[in-house]
Amino acid sequence: MKPGSPHRRPLVVANWKMNFTPGEASDFAGRLLALLAKRGPGWIEALDLAIAPAHPALDRLRGALSGSDVQLAAQNLHPAAQGAYTGEVSLAMLEDLGCRFVLIGHSERRHLFGEDDEFIAAKASRLVGSSVRPILCVGETLEEREAGETLDRVTRQLAAVLDATGDGLASQLVVAYEPVWAIGTGRTATPDDAQAVHAEIRKNLIEHFGESGRQTRILYGGSVKPSNVRELLAQPDLDGALVGGARLDPEAFASIALASLEKS
Ligand code: 13P
Repeated sequence: MKPGSPHRRPLVVANWKMNFTPGEASDFAGRLLALLAKRGPGWIEALDLAIAPAHPALDRLRGALSGSDVQLAAQNLHPAAQGAYTGEVSLAMLEDLGCRFVLIGHSERRHLFGEDDEFIAAKASRLVGSSVRPILCVGETLEEREAGETLDRVTRQLAAVLDATGDGLASQLVVAYEPVWAIGTGRTATPDDAQAVHAEIRKNLIEHFGESGRQTRILYGGSVKPSNVRELLAQPDLDGALVGGARLDPEAFASIALASLEKS
């Protein structure tokens, strides 16, 4: 870290998507904790680490992670407090389960389930003042990148949430830049390309929140692997990783987590 630059504790989150039964989640946690324990005590103070399992595995994973510093994240929530929303999950449920983070605006929710900026902003509004931090995912498609619309697209996705929540999420928000063309494809943004987008997000956060926008963590996601995480996180505005494919292997996930310690 350069002298005088703001300290943002690295955050690494595994998004398990629709993988792992509760039993498999528990096995994974045991293997991950054993790998992390080899590193010895104390390191976790320099890093935030979280896992976002499918909802049915949240409770079992909570049990398997108890006593560790690995935190629980959810993959989704509904904006309403409660009610007739078959198949959906509320903030109160996630709070009760001890979730510390929730993904909102993931490109799979946007593209496969038709969630738009307005709906995502409503989810963000629900989270204001709660104990659950939103990880707002933003990112452009390949067509948008090729048309030179990357920064515009990402800025609009971010603005939808910031405009709806005002200063309400100043100390809670985490942003994740996930270029859609890099998710699950093995293609990764170059460190310089990712930094250019992160810098634009940072600029928008500072314009909106003032100086506290310098404290907001901006994660990168999209084919993050043990072999590329170091060069990505060497960029000044990349504060951690949202990990998809490599999340399924405890060794790969542990090595991404430990590599990010070099950032702290
Ligand atoms: P991959 O790491 O498989 O590209 O997935 C990224 C992702 O969608 C994390 O939310």
